[in-house]
Amino acid sequence: RQDEREELYGIMDLAARLYRESLERSEEAGTARRYLEARGVDRETSEAYRLGFAPDRWDYLSRHLQHRKVSMELAERLGLVRRREGGGYFDIFRNRLLFAIADIHGRTIGFGGRVLDDSLPKYINSPESPIYHKSDVLFGVHLAKGALREQGSAIVVEGYFDHLALYQAGVRNVVATCGTALTEGHVKLLRRYAGKAYTLFDADSAGRKATVRAIDLFLAENFPAHVVELTQGEDPDSFVKKEGADAFRARLAKARPAFDFLFRDLLGQVNAGTVEGKVKVADELAPRLAKLVNPIERELYVKEIARVLGIDVRSLLRTPGGTAGARPAPLLRPPAERRPRGAGPEEM
Ligand code: UTP
Ligand code: MN
Ligand code: MN
Ligand code: MN
Ligand code: MN
Repeated sequence: RQDEREELYGIMDLAARLYRESLERSEEAGTARRYLEARGVDRETSEAYRLGFAPDRWDYLSRHLQHRKVSMELAERLGLVRRREGGGYFDIFRNRLLFAIADIHGRTIGFGGRVLDDSLPKYINSPESPIYHKSDVLFGVHLAKGALREQGSAIVVEGYFDHLALYQAGVRNVVATCGTALTEGHVKLLRRYAGKAYTLFDADSAGRKATVRAIDLFLAENFPAHVVELTQGEDPDSFVKKEGADAFRARLAKARPAFDFLFRDLLGQVNAGTVEGKVKVADELAPRLAKLVNPIERELYVKEIARVLGIDVRSLLRTPGGTAGARPAPLLRPPAERRPRGAGPEEM
């Protein structure tokens, strides 16, 4: 129902204002303000991202919402409060720095809340709701959309702070997955604004896995993608802080085409001097080669891989999942694989 959706947006807006007010003015938000300062976040950025603070109390938001005669049932559906055993409601976000998650129009539809120390879970996030479909939302898209169009490309990062750090460094064509796997819906959203993507995930094993998964999705969706690699152990936020915006732009300029990244990455994992290693590389790459829609691109990669492995092109094409038996590239986009709607876990 439309009026129920409006009510949900209204509740989110009330909550965002209250948390923002608390971060800006309340005494108990002092630690949060110092935390942001220590991480180099300025006022303007804090405002742009609608950063907030949920005080360490059980009823900070719920009392406010009740005063405003808000439907607490709807607030519960948004994951802001939960019903108490004995009646009444308590707040879900407590003692956390809050990022407002917004839709394309900038309306707040959820929150990501970070602890101010190293306790766990590091972040908690709003659940799915009638106004927040995780598989269709990318963090920061409302701040990025102009730059996405202008530059024709989207940089995809993992985290809230990565988005924010790049924004502050003047890199604006950025969206964040917030730790969940990219979905078809996300690619559809990117496609509305840009013609290609750069993955820029953390330089750790989780980030590498996320990169390979993203490449597979981009291949399945026939969306051109490049991979930006950072110094081991860094993420975009820490990299920009350590090395500066110019070093960052240099990394961006050195981004590799996704397929090239896959190939090099595999070569780094196996001993390509052995038969076993070569078979492994061919097994991994053959089904992916089959997904390259552009026949020239496919041919060039097939030749390059065959050359590096020291095998015949025809053997590579005949590798299970390879392109030998495949139909010629269709004129239209191939049907995308069905994949589960990627609603990530609320806590990770
Ligand atoms: P990271 O663990 O890389 O955190 O998770 P980060 O973004 O670098 O955060 P900082 O710099 O330590 O503050 C990447 C993203 O995954 C999601 C968040 O969106 C986070 O920004 N995440 C991570 C969660 O939702 N929950 C978690 O417990 C951890
Ligand atoms: Mn909906
Ligand atoms: Mn990470
Ligand atoms: Mn990170
Ligand atoms: Mn980080």
